[in-house]
Amino acid sequence: MSEVHVYPVNQAIADTAHITEDKYREMYQQSVINPEGFWREHGQILDWIKPFSKVKNTSFDTGHVNVNWFEDGTLNVSVNCLDRHLATRGDQPAIIWEGDDPTDDATLTYNELHEEVCKFSNALKSQGVRKGDVVCLYMPMVAEAAIAMLACTRIGAVHTIVFGGFSPEALAGRIVDSNAKVVVTADEGVRAGRAVPLKKNVDAALANENVTSVEKVLVLKRTGGTVEWDSARDVWWHEATAVASANCEPEEMNAEDPLFILYTSGSTGKPKGVLHTTGGYLVYATMTFKYVFDYQEGDIYWCTADVGWITGHSYLVYGPLANGATTLLFEGVPNYPSTSRMSEVVDKHNVSILYTAPTAIRALMAKGNEAIKGTSRSSLRIMGSVGEPINPEAWEWYHRTIGDSRCPIVDTWWQTETGGILITPLPGATALKPGSATRPFFGVQPAIVDNMGNILEGATEGNLVMVDSWPGQMRTLWGDHERFEQTYFSTFQGMYFTGDGARRDEDGYYWITGRVDDVLNISGHRMGTAEIESALVAFDKIAEAAIVGVPHDIKGQAIYAYITLNDGEIPSAELHKEVKDWVRKEIGPIATPDFLHWTDALPKTRSGKIMRRILRKIATGDTSTLGDTSTLADPSVVDKLIEEKQKIM
Ligand code: PRX
Repeated sequence: MSEVHVYPVNQAIADTAHITEDKYREMYQQSVINPEGFWREHGQILDWIKPFSKVKNTSFDTGHVNVNWFEDGTLNVSVNCLDRHLATRGDQPAIIWEGDDPTDDATLTYNELHEEVCKFSNALKSQGVRKGDVVCLYMPMVAEAAIAMLACTRIGAVHTIVFGGFSPEALAGRIVDSNAKVVVTADEGVRAGRAVPLKKNVDAALANENVTSVEKVLVLKRTGGTVEWDSARDVWWHEATAVASANCEPEEMNAEDPLFILYTSGSTGKPKGVLHTTGGYLVYATMTFKYVFDYQEGDIYWCTADVGWITGHSYLVYGPLANGATTLLFEGVPNYPSTSRMSEVVDKHNVSILYTAPTAIRALMAKGNEAIKGTSRSSLRIMGSVGEPINPEAWEWYHRTIGDSRCPIVDTWWQTETGGILITPLPGATALKPGSATRPFFGVQPAIVDNMGNILEGATEGNLVMVDSWPGQMRTLWGDHERFEQTYFSTFQGMYFTGDGARRDEDGYYWITGRVDDVLNISGHRMGTAEIESALVAFDKIAEAAIVGVPHDIKGQAIYAYITLNDGEIPSAELHKEVKDWVRKEIGPIATPDFLHWTDALPKTRSGKIMRRILRKIATGDTSTLGDTSTLADPSVVDKLIEEKQKIM
């Protein structure tokens, strides 16, 4: 391995930081020696209606996995994100919205956001939404997305956000699984100058015969584009809120009441509905936001994630607003209309904390100094990275070019399931090593285990697990607790398995090496290979398919599809396009295979199991170490695949 460059803690940052090196060590010790005491104290970061007396009641034991935090406390999330700030910061911007078009922007103060949330809460109620009902949000990146989330929390409804890039089919599947009663959407979204037909997609999803739960669709007018209208079902957002009162009493929620469901891909089967609950999730999102980004009064914070992903939940909306911060919500993409857009937005709004993804960083890096042309970025203080391993070159470029070698980078490792950041530097406490997510956050107890589940000590490499619970941990899979136990707690008994591999160095720093299961990470978006494969085999000309990931300079990973056609079907340019379009329609553009490898046979064991290890190696061109192929039913398949691979572009 090449020499690791260590960046010592930036003294100017440490001078005013919430957490310094000594403080980190002391608090971390407390948090793992006495979790009860630690979280009893830090649970006070929220305003509770009825204070909790119980702190932690959790078990990772097979057959009895349960996770409960602060279980006898009650609170309301929107009160913590809004009402409690009104006396001190009612006129401070809560959300700065920056449109796709650089001349479009708007600001909502805490007072204004509170009013809009109350009105939309009443609008939801008037459409029949009650405590415990599920509301599906399929929204563009506009302030109303955050308003709709907060309104759900105010009245105790459970939101499930579906990323606006998912297809009607994918949307329908999530609506069916969650049993959503209402869908909130917009006529169209706007991204990189192009309209996204959200309402049309909702119409198509609801036309699916399996979707029977939806009673109403609330539609925000974003572009004014033409939409079909079902007057018995569809209601305009502006009409529903025009007649709604700006007063809405918040529901008193138990800490363990469901807050939201968010679907994510796993290594098998259909997407899983990850459930987060009210108290523990919000304590954890609030506290990690404050310390990981060293949030200080007056900071302008920008997270580029879409609300459709967990980062958009915890660190675009809930974490920042619970801290009374100003959060910037950006409708567009970092390189539209020009490569310097991200830097321009930083200058325009004086952004001091920037949180983005390696894939965006690499896309900008590919254009060199174009990304900072004509900008100063002097307002930046802290920068973050999330979603996939950041390669040291991209880290160095981000640090040097975007951050002018001034700003610490927090490389934050976490997952939809973890609710908040688990492994991360703290800006005033942690010396940085490019490419390493460094050390665990308070209360987080990672371990590295071998394939038998033995905990490995010292500098080592293996599977990343958590040996104890933290408040932001998911509670279950919606409607399928057994699958929850099976997926996360059965590989290694008594431990939460992350699905990631990691290395720990001699300083105790963690280096995430990527997924060790059949999950891909495409531009920081999680995709299950099984999901893409089942979409492919649903295509009438395809007999069999196997998906593997291959390295990609910008996206991190690209999707490589091995496809066997039905007898009599012949590969062609038209079929190539048809297959790609099919996957876009079934799942969405992010799942579109980059490479199609037509073949007559896949390498299988005698019991019929596809040997992905071999397929991965062939796809990456790494055929010198194929390992033992003698267990294959027909070893000659391998040579044929290698030969065919030469022709794949
Ligand atoms: O493989 C890890 C990778 O993203 C996975 C989680 O994906 P998702 O649930 O969609 O959440 C993404 C945003 C939190 C992880 O299992 N991952 C996430 N952050 C990092 C990372 N890999 C390396 N370094 C990171 N900082």
